[in-house]
Amino acid sequence: MALHAKQDNPMPQHIAIIMDGNGRWAKKRLLPRTAGHAAGAETFRKIALYCREIGVKYLTVYAFSTENWKRPQEEVSKIMSLMKDYLLEAIRDMQKNHVRINFFGDLSALSPELQALAAEAGKESEIYADSQVNMCINYGSRDEILRAARKWASHCAQTGEDPDSLTADSFSRLLYSGDIPDPDLIIRPGGELRISNFLLWQAAYAELYFTDVLWPDFDERELDKAIEAFQARNRRYGGI
Ligand code: IPE
Ligand code: IPE
Ligand code: MG
Repeated sequence: MALHAKQDNPMPQHIAIIMDGNGRWAKKRLLPRTAGHAAGAETFRKIALYCREIGVKYLTVYAFSTENWKRPQEEVSKIMSLMKDYLLEAIRDMQKNHVRINFFGDLSALSPELQALAAEAGKESEIYADSQVNMCINYGSRDEILRAARKWASHCAQTGEDPDSLTADSFSRLLYSGDIPDPDLIIRPGGELRISNFLLWQAAYAELYFTDVLWPDFDERELDKAIEAFQARNRRYGGI
């Protein structure tokens, strides 16, 4: 499927998506919320492939937040089991499509099986450089920033380096997103107008795009619309 947005206009190099609205999508269909998560996982696959096809180099998706553990145990288990199935397929998909997969978040809270699959997916795809998916699992931006601050503090304590030598660039490198550029465009489907603890530091100059479309209904055309909206923005970065 071709991109409808104008290819001669600047394309976002990095798109980040808060994949929200699975539960409401299911509710509308009188299905259990978990059916919405299964449908959302399919949408993710479709959109990840489309991003690769149209030349978006980095795609970062918010799949499970540090706050999502508050949900009923049954829902959390189903999400984790979908992640497992997805990771197994992703390993195959990535080999075929040459997509690198990377994880943002504290994976140590996941089951050993899931941790092993994530490590395998990361390792097997390390060689691919054209297209990268960052999957945020047990991710919270405040947690990410705190971890980076602690890393810096212990580095200084161990090496005697002056804490004041820290710069915005060197701090960025301590985040999960360390070696990749900040998102150009952050998309939130599902109708909520908030960031929900996602990429707080990295979003400093991201363009934001909100849509009422629920994540399982989001498709290539919706992504085109978001890219078109992005292309119509004037990014000033504080200048004129
Ligand atoms: C997003 O969809 C998926 C996760 C947060 C895991 P939701 O489950 O939040 O769906 P809504 O917002 O309740 O519709
Ligand atoms: C944000 O969605 C987290 C993910 C999509 C993984 P939530 O549904 O958890 O966010 P809130 O609760 O509406 O802020
Ligand atoms: Mg939600």
